[in-house]
Order: sequence, then structure tokens, then C-alpha cells
Amino acid sequence: MAAAISAAPNVPISPGKLPLIGHAFAMWRNPLKFFNSVSEQGPLARIQLGPLHAYLVSDHDMLYDILVRKSKDYEKGMQYDRVRSMLGNGILLSEDELHRSQRLLMQPAFHHTQIATYLGIMRDSATAVFDSWEDGQRVNMYPMFYELAVRIVIKALFSTDMAEHDIKEVYRCMPVVISGVERRAAVPPALLDRVPTRGSKLFHSAIGRLTKVGRRIVSDLDSERDRAANDLMARLFAARDSGNPNVTDQQIHEEFMTMLTAGSETTPSAMSWTAYLLGEHPDVQRKLQAEVDAVLEGRPVTAEDLPKLEYTRRVVTESLRMYPPVWALGRRTRVDTQLGGHRIPRGTEVLYSIYAVHHDRTVYPKPGTFDPDRWLPERRREVPRSAFMPFGAGVRNCIGESFAWNEIQAVIATLASQWHVRPTSDKPVEPIAMGALVPGPLPMTVVRRKI
Ligand code: HEM
Repeated sequence: MAAAISAAPNVPISPGKLPLIGHAFAMWRNPLKFFNSVSEQGPLARIQLGPLHAYLVSDHDMLYDILVRKSKDYEKGMQYDRVRSMLGNGILLSEDELHRSQRLLMQPAFHHTQIATYLGIMRDSATAVFDSWEDGQRVNMYPMFYELAVRIVIKALFSTDMAEHDIKEVYRCMPVVISGVERRAAVPPALLDRVPTRGSKLFHSAIGRLTKVGRRIVSDLDSERDRAANDLMARLFAARDSGNPNVTDQQIHEEFMTMLTAGSETTPSAMSWTAYLLGEHPDVQRKLQAEVDAVLEGRPVTAEDLPKLEYTRRVVTESLRMYPPVWALGRRTRVDTQLGGHRIPRGTEVLYSIYAVHHDRTVYPKPGTFDPDRWLPERRREVPRSAFMPFGAGVRNCIGESFAWNEIQAVIATLASQWHVRPTSDKPVEPIAMGALVPGPLPMTVVRRKI
């Protein structure tokens, strides 16, 4: 239940609120710009979204309280409510005992030894795309990485090839849903259902179309009786068949939709921003290529190579800092609690900006400057654990973190071993908050390396 305005404790309300709707329009129009402007006012700010008042946290230590030290005081918040009709009680949204049992059941599919076995899928899927390019071609990086990421996550976790038309359907519909979630968080739920806007119709239709794709794929997998795969889906089917009360057909569908969403909306953003930064910094790109050449010696990348690709990892880390794909999220208090010395009543929405935490000047001098060497071991030690959290933290941290690291490093190393990427324009690209933080289509020229 949302706290009433009158219950607001003593944190100043952000300027710029309009009568009745408060800050809802500013947040709906451009969530990143709005969050950045509120963050500048201090580590904890109060905003008003229609009748609801909420807090915005931009301080890493307070965020650590929410995610780790006092995580029991919070549940998933209003952004997650808006996507429940698609993801149900999948592991991203479930709470407490159900969440714990899902995590136990699924964790082995994300263990680092298991992820090493996915590396061939990641590398070979990337090679197939890069081998189809012509020297000097213009490539829209974001859609290319998006389709690649969908192909990889489905093949690795569900041992199946997703049909081309299904991948296109996911690319068409998923961003409508995810950006809709962010924007709809600004509008009170009662109003959302009462006013059938075009955006609202598109949002629901996209959810319906994705659900249809998911149901068909899961049902096909279920009917393949001779399947001997040791993948995530096999674990879920086995748990259902052995009578685990938490694993029903509906639950399996929701887990599939959850993995499809989490695996497709995040890594493409990270890979696109990394390509963008390499294009903007040819010296860094050359250094990364030299490392890849020295480690791989012309072979395809393997899981054993990844720890040796230290500079590549620093480049990706800096890209995740500057452009965290999951740039903002939220929780709701389940009890009265304390945050930054303020009393926050039960039922209050607390939003937080990982983007603001990653651009904190007191932690990162010149936060807008791309500097992969911030992550050299001796400098990295200076950065508090809580000031770099692209994958969240605590019991609800990203289950796919190692998967994502392997995927991004393998794909970027494969790219760099054969291709040089160049910007097609000298205008800097501004991040767009489409749910994930994306660079738009990001056209770049790909030039075959002469090695
Ligand atoms: C660069 C890539 C990625 C980023 C930045 C990222 C970020 C995050 C963040 C911040 C959370 C925490 C959400 C919260 O606290 O409410 C999360 C959770 C999650 N992520 Fe990721 N993620 C990435 C890739 C992936 C991939 C590839 C998968 C699956 C294949 C995945 C699956 C999940 C799932 C299932 C959860 C929910 C975990 C739980 O609540 O137990 N993520 N992710």
C-alpha cells in the first residue's frame, strides 16, 4: 500500500512538482534526466508521483542498506508490479520462501563450471554473425547484439535454437514492455487501467505476443520426450515431475519468460556501450586488440582465456560503470525502517539510481571520463564495494552475473580478434533509458583487421 503524502518524513521534496501529478510527467517523459536532476539535490530526495510519495536514493552506502544490510525490510517495488502480468512469480519477482527454493533449484545452471560449458555457444554464435559482415559495412550494433544475446541465452539455458521470426518478435515486443514498465511506474495503477491510451494498448499487446512465443517454446521443449539435456529447463521439468509443489507448468513458463527478459535486455546494452567506447577511443581499442592477439594467438576464445584477458575485463567494467544497463530500480518497505537517519514508513516506494552511484564524484574522479585503468588492482581497492553494483547485491543479486561476464568478454574478444569498429558520426551518443540504458541503434562501421 502506498504511503499518503501527509506521512512524509522530514526530507525536502524535490523542486519542479506540478499540482496533482507532482513529478509524474517529468519522470514519464525522460526517466534518466529526471533521476539525474533529482540525484543532484542530494543522497536522499523525496518525489511525488500523483497521490504517491516516494524516495530516490543516489548514495551507495544507503543503497547497500537497502539491498544488503536491511534487505529484510524491503520487497520488490512498483516497477516490478507493472511487469507481473508477464513474469508472474518467476525468480525475479517472487519473495521469501518461494524465491529461496527457486534460487536453490536454478543456481546450478549458473555455476561457473556450468557457464564455462556455455562459452562455445557464446563464441560460435558471435562468430557466425561477425563472419557474415563485409569489410567497411555499417552495422547497427544494438539490434545486432540484441538478437545475438537472445540466441545465446535460449541456446545455453534451454538447449534450443530460437527461430528467426521468434527472435524478431522478441526484439519488437520486449523493449515496448520494458520501457513501458519504467514509464508506467510514474502513473498510479488505478489510472493506468482506466485510460486505454495507445501506449497502454501497445504495452498489453506486446506482453500478449511475448507470452504466446514463450508458451509455444516451453510446450515444444516439454513434448520432446527424448531430451537428455542437463540444462535449466531440464532441471525445472524434473522438479515438476518429481512433485515439487513450487514447480507447476505455469511456474516453468514464468521462469522461461524471466530468463528471456533478464538475458535479452541487459547484455546487449553492455556490449553496445563497450563497442561505442572502443570506437570513441581507438587507442584503447588497439590495446585491447593487442591483448586479444597475444592471449588467443589466432585461436577462437575459450573459457580458460578469459582470466588472462585482464585489459578487456577492465574495459568492460568501465563500460558497466559509465552505462549500467540496469540503471535504476526500486523497492517497497515492508516495515517502518530507517534510511540515512530518516524514518521511512511501511509501504513506501524507494527508488534508487545505480547510474547516480556510478557517477559519484567523491568515489570516481571525473566520472564522465572513460578510464579503464580505474580498475587496475591498486586503484580498484580504493572503490568501496557498494559504489559499483551493476548486478545489484545481496540475496537478490543477479543470478546471471557470471553468465553475463562470460558472454560479454567472449563476444568482445571475438569481435576484436577480427574487426575494428569505428563511429559513423562525431556526435556523442546520449544514453536512452528504454528500461535498460541503451545507445539507440548505434550505427558503426566495421573494418576487417589485417593481422
Ligand atoms: C550486463 C548484464 C546484466 C546486468 C547488468 C544485470 C543486472 C541485474 C540486476 C541489477 C539484478 C538485481 C535486480 C534487483 O535487485 O531487483 C539482476 C537480477 C537478475 N538477473 Fe541479471 N543482469 C545481467 C544479465 C543477466 C543475464 C544474462 C541473466 C540470465 C541469463 C540474468 C538473470 C537475472 C535474474 C533471473 C535476476 C533475478 C535474481 C533473483 O532475484 O534471485 N541477468 N540482474
